Amino acid sequence: MNKKIAVYPGTFDPITYGHMDIIKRAAKLFYSVIVAVGEDPQKAPVFTLSERFDMIKNVIESERFENVSVDLFRGLLVHYLDKVGSIIIIRGLRAVTDFEHEFQMALANRKLNSIAETVFLLPGEQFVYLSSSMVKTIALNNGDVSPFVPPFVEKFLYSKLRRS
Ligand code: COA
Repeated sequence: MNKKIAVYPGTFDPITYGHMDIIKRAAKLFYSVIVAVGEDPQKAPVFTLSERFDMIKNVIESERFENVSVDLFRGLLVHYLDKVGSIIIIRGLRAVTDFEHEFQMALANRKLNSIAETVFLLPGEQFVYLSSSMVKTIALNNGDVSPFVPPFVEKFLYSKLRRS
């Protein structure tokens, strides 16, 4: 098992500056970070898995994150960790309201893989209220999402919403 590879899983529908803040912090702590785009069966994402993958790839390239890569996973996160040889799960904790859900997920993942550890990182305080749903609601109602997502994601978001 590689203690230097960390996996940052999420739905990323779409990636926001808040997620990017967590990626930057994780990239400083670990030799390599994999942003793993997955499915939450409870959610109905606006973007397909491959669209979310492409947006993150673009962000990683434009930000020149040298030790960060992006990947897709289906099924259980712990199986994906095994596949890439990692035991470290990165999650962002924005506020107390995140805690219960994160606590449940971290303990379920630990039960499924006793050596997997979840590492919680705090985003910068300017991002604590931000979520992907909020960004989509603003875009759907013709608001300005430029403070929350990079320009490439903003364009992608408006063109997707216009088409659907
Ligand atoms: N900045 C901005 N938004 C943030 C954030 C940050 N730093 N940290 C969290 N969020 C938001 C996300 O935007 C998202 O908002 P939304 O609900 O409006 O879309 C929300 O917090 C949390 O979503 P996400 O990070 O996508 O996590 P999730 O709780 O939906 O989990 C998986 C997604 C893929 C990690 C999870 O479902 C999973 O592991 N699935 C595989 C099955 C499995 O193994 N489950 C665990 C064991 S049962």
